Amino acid sequence: MEKILVLDFGGQYNLLIARRVRELGVFAEIKPYNKISPAEIKAENYKGVIFTGGPNSVYEEQSPHYSPEILNIGIPLLGICYGHQLIAYMAGGEIISAESISEYGKTDVKVSSCRLFENVPEISVCWMSHTDFVSRLPDGFEATAFTENCPCAAMSDEKRNIYGVQFHPEVTHTEYGKTVLYNFLFGICGCKGDWKMDDFIEKTVAEYREKLKGKRVLCALSGGVDSSVAAVLMHRAVGDDLVCVFVDHGLLRKNEGDDVERIFRGKFNMKLIRVNAESRFLAKLEGVTEPEKKRRIIGEEFIRVFEEESRSLGKVDYLVQGTIYPDVVESGRGDASTIKSHHNVGGLPSVIDFEGIAEPLRELFKDEVRAVGLKLGIPEYLVMRQPFPGPGLAVRIIGEITKDKADTLREADAIFREELEKAKVVSSQYFAVLTDTRSVGVMGDARTYGHTVALRAVTTDDFMTADWTRVPFDVLEAASRRITNEVKSINRVVYDITSKPPATVEWE
Ligand code: XMP
Repeated sequence: MEKILVLDFGGQYNLLIARRVRELGVFAEIKPYNKISPAEIKAENYKGVIFTGGPNSVYEEQSPHYSPEILNIGIPLLGICYGHQLIAYMAGGEIISAESISEYGKTDVKVSSCRLFENVPEISVCWMSHTDFVSRLPDGFEATAFTENCPCAAMSDEKRNIYGVQFHPEVTHTEYGKTVLYNFLFGICGCKGDWKMDDFIEKTVAEYREKLKGKRVLCALSGGVDSSVAAVLMHRAVGDDLVCVFVDHGLLRKNEGDDVERIFRGKFNMKLIRVNAESRFLAKLEGVTEPEKKRRIIGEEFIRVFEEESRSLGKVDYLVQGTIYPDVVESGRGDASTIKSHHNVGGLPSVIDFEGIAEPLRELFKDEVRAVGLKLGIPEYLVMRQPFPGPGLAVRIIGEITKDKADTLREADAIFREELEKAKVVSSQYFAVLTDTRSVGVMGDARTYGHTVALRAVTTDDFMTADWTRVPFDVLEAASRRITNEVKSINRVVYDITSKPPATVEWE
């Protein structure tokens, strides 16, 4: 299979570059710049290398540099932003830092004829984010794009197939970004576009069928997209040697537990153990109000239940994990401060004695996981499902958790989701939160003193930042009317209009 290397210099759009390349049908891998040498790149037969952006200036002492040997190994290169400057620097050019040149955001760029800009109009809008720029081109290069401020918005050495762009072709704000990447991959690197989901399924199933022959395999199924797709894929590979354990902690959404059982046991005929552990989790959570403590208790209890179940199964050889590519790439990087300790049900129980871990999705992005799920025949509503936190409704019930509160929230949440879906409102994640506020209301002629439920809907690409969704008033009204009519004990409904930051998506 042909592949492209995305050499990571620390830029914020690195995952996006790899995703765009894959969207165009070419497999892309991300590797940190200091983990692979030009000789290794050559030995791995990459069709091309993309140098990513990064926050540094090339002349700073601690800036990431790379061996100039890369310029002469005969593999096409494309530098983006810092990557573009770094290539210019390595090839003997000069870079200047100048506030007067700095460009940020949408910028008109004029291109001249160059293989990289085939089918790109002479002037188009590109996304810029830089202060440094290439002030003197290296020998053998010519400038192929300009902006009002920047005399070298792109450069090329067509003889050696080395290119650089100051703008970001991977972001959608760059009108012809996809064309630029297409030209690099297909016109310059000579790719054919052989990255297809069907091939991935076939290859993965064959690989694990061989590797796990005669082994007992265990999977913690949460009902989320990643663990569901991983489980069905592994089931294709090893059939009944796979056992799935689904721990129902009693904090799932309405009907979710039954759905999981129906689909995996009913439709796919998989060996599934459903552990109904609601009372066990609720007992542990009694009196606990602190969000991080709730997460910790659920995470630990989950592992305990899972361990007990797997012990009762006897020896297990392999454990299936729904790890996906962003988890692999992001882990190991220096992390920012912990805002919330995200616990994903399916975390690694350290006490179970097993030979190895099977991570069949570790090369895939979320949208690819979804595509695989659909191809495997998992119902669309499950595959396209919005994210749901591992600790479930526990982080959506403010204050102490009780069964009554969980049941109340489940009903309100189901109604809100139903109304949004009926009205076809586009939103990345939407749910209800049971606040710990009670307030006075009037129903019939009587005073009520009920719970306040908050509705939350957000629109986002990556969940790092999010905007509140502009849900039409009549949809909010329908949800509010139904919730107060149909859910006993709720007499007030509010809509959350804070973005992230300063708020977070979940309330806890
Ligand atoms: P926040 O609240 O951090 O949420 O803005 C961002 C995304 O992460 C999900 N989330 C979690 N997922 N375990 C998870 O698996 C957690 O503890 C957790 N907390 C938040 C949240 O639903 C949103 O999609």
